[in-house]
Amino acid sequence: TQRSLVLVKPDGVRRGLTGEVIRRIEAKGYTLVALELRTATREILAQHYAEHEGKPFYEPLVEFMLSGPVAAMVIEGERVIEGFRSLGGATDPTTAAPGTIRGDLGRDWGLAVQQNIVHGSDAPESAEREIGIWFPGL
Ligand code: GTP
Ligand code: MG
Repeated sequence: TQRSLVLVKPDGVRRGLTGEVIRRIEAKGYTLVALELRTATREILAQHYAEHEGKPFYEPLVEFMLSGPVAAMVIEGERVIEGFRSLGGATDPTTAAPGTIRGDLGRDWGLAVQQNIVHGSDAPESAEREIGIWFPGL
């Protein structure tokens, strides 16, 4: 079995979509193994988004992620990493497929960063790395 780190980003929490995201995860059959509402820090985000450092959207992304609490969770199940990426949909919410979280619930708000409701780990190595960042000791 496999684990993934999922974040409901500040836009999702602000819009009251935390429950809807959890509902879709549970309806799909994945198990919640950790769940916590918390505000990120620059230290956590520097680790979490290390791969994007230096890109034009990096600073706006960090500011956005600091703009309010996130719902951080660890979910578990066979192939849950690709399963949640599929539930979440493509990065750009404008063109993410209907039926996905981003496609059904997201849109372009004309801001510097894509506010796309959720984060999900993209590979087993990133999942273990990100779980260590957000839930050390888990
Ligand atoms: P995450 O699950 O959040 O990691 O999204 P992702 O894996 O679909 O995208 P990626 O890791 O490539 O980028 C992380 C986040 O940066 C995205 O979710 C967006 O919020 C933002 N982002 C990525 N690419 C762009 C871009 O080209 N322009 C802007 N404005 N934001 C971007
Ligand atoms: Mg990513």
